[in-house]
Amino acid sequence: MNFQLIENTKTQAFAQKHSLLIPLTSKNLAEKMALLTAEFGWSAAILEDFKASTEEVQILYTQADNALEKVILLGLGESATAEGLRKAMRLLVYKQKEKLGKNIVIDFGKLPEELSKVALVEACTNAALLATYDIAKFKTKDKQPSVFSENIAFLLPSESHTLAQKAVEKGEIIASTQQDIFDLVNLPVNRLNSLQLAEFMEKIGKEYSFGVRVMHLAEIKQLGMGGLVAVNQGSDTPATFTVMEYKPTTSQPLKKVGLVGKGVTFDMGGISIKTSDGMWQMKCDMAGAAAVIGTMEAVARLQLPVHLIAVVPSTDNMISGRAICPGDIVNTYSGLTIEIEDTDAEGRVILADGLAYIKKNFEPDVLIDLATLTGASVIALGYHAAALFTHNDELAEQLAKAGTQTSEKVWRLPLWDDYDKHIKSDMADVKNFGGRPAGAITAAKFLEKFTDKHPAWVHLDIAGVAFGDNPFSGARSATAYGVRLLVEYITNLTAQ
Ligand code: BES
Ligand code: ZN
Ligand code: ZN
Repeated sequence: MNFQLIENTKTQAFAQKHSLLIPLTSKNLAEKMALLTAEFGWSAAILEDFKASTEEVQILYTQADNALEKVILLGLGESATAEGLRKAMRLLVYKQKEKLGKNIVIDFGKLPEELSKVALVEACTNAALLATYDIAKFKTKDKQPSVFSENIAFLLPSESHTLAQKAVEKGEIIASTQQDIFDLVNLPVNRLNSLQLAEFMEKIGKEYSFGVRVMHLAEIKQLGMGGLVAVNQGSDTPATFTVMEYKPTTSQPLKKVGLVGKGVTFDMGGISIKTSDGMWQMKCDMAGAAAVIGTMEAVARLQLPVHLIAVVPSTDNMISGRAICPGDIVNTYSGLTIEIEDTDAEGRVILADGLAYIKKNFEPDVLIDLATLTGASVIALGYHAAALFTHNDELAEQLAKAGTQTSEKVWRLPLWDDYDKHIKSDMADVKNFGGRPAGAITAAKFLEKFTDKHPAWVHLDIAGVAFGDNPFSGARSATAYGVRLLVEYITNLTAQ
């Protein structure tokens, strides 16, 4: 798919047959409709049905210069935002693929002046590409065509073309990264285990020029990562611990951001086994890892001025005669011991090693972990926002802002010490299960112990937002939550 910037539809690249896509808000609709009817010679009645409500689509045809032209009106509701356009555009392209035609010209001219056209270009590019994601990777027949059109052109005054070109590139990079992340999260464990996940990181490290070091089980054991070893001991696939590092060469001082992602390739719960209803969805339990991998990929491709380090402890959580047993006590990289009360609370046990490792070896200025950690976070916030935990108000605000900007929302929950008593162990330093009440908070309190009181640590519980119902698949599927949130956060951070 090609994206172009043009000034005039009639004289430039799209003199040939094309569809004209016009996004509209419902505000002052009558005025804009009057302009359109005049322009295309339609009778006013033809537009009566179209109310420009959110994601409403109306396709009309017109005969201009003896060529049939398609005009696609896309409703954005009351007030237009780049986010609103992104959603509407993705849905339009996904649902109407066959009808849109080979060449599309997008005209933002009927949208409010004050909207940044550059942001709209990015949103449209990103959305159009995302909509072509092919989830049917393993179908051998009846595949739907995924590419719907060859050319998309944005109608813009030439003085904005340089910035708009950058926006196209950003939209493309983020979309292709998000598509990678969809794949990782959607793949089941027989197609993506801890070794294959590590290989993927090596592959993109080579492709986009950042450092990747994969540690295998012997080294993991030697380093004393007893949490990861314990969760992995029931598995037939050895754990991996991967460290990625991106550092652009520049004389300017760079902020050091550290990321940790939960890479459980399948969570059946271990001996504390889950019920089978919906268990297949636990292939998504490496979505935290996928989000940090995607952030790494996008940041490297966009060449953002930041020193970014990401670690991914990865294993599945299986049942077997060798599997870790409730009551077992394990040593961890930090030196702290954990009593395993419930083997299904495995994510926090591998993150304990990830957090302690990155803190000790890299001393990042900001430390963020992402994990599909608890069903309790889904009970608290549903499928609309990740639960955010931090002691750092400024960071909470920065992430909330990035969340609003990207629609990858976060909502803060407390980290009061009152919750510590739930995870107090008689025999070890801490236990991995704090009961059902406040389950997302007690999980966060557990992680906190392994951050060595880092003043800028954030935990994001993404269990409700990483994998869910959406209009782009029949059953639940990946959302790539976290990639745009973190890229936006890092972009804002580096612009300061
Ligand atoms: N991977 C799950 C959490 C999860 C739930 C992810 C829903 C995605 C969607 C996690 O490892 C888990 O099993 N958590 C338990 C914790 C409990 C045993 C303390 C849970 O939430 O029930
Ligand atoms: Zn679990
Ligand atoms: Zn899990």
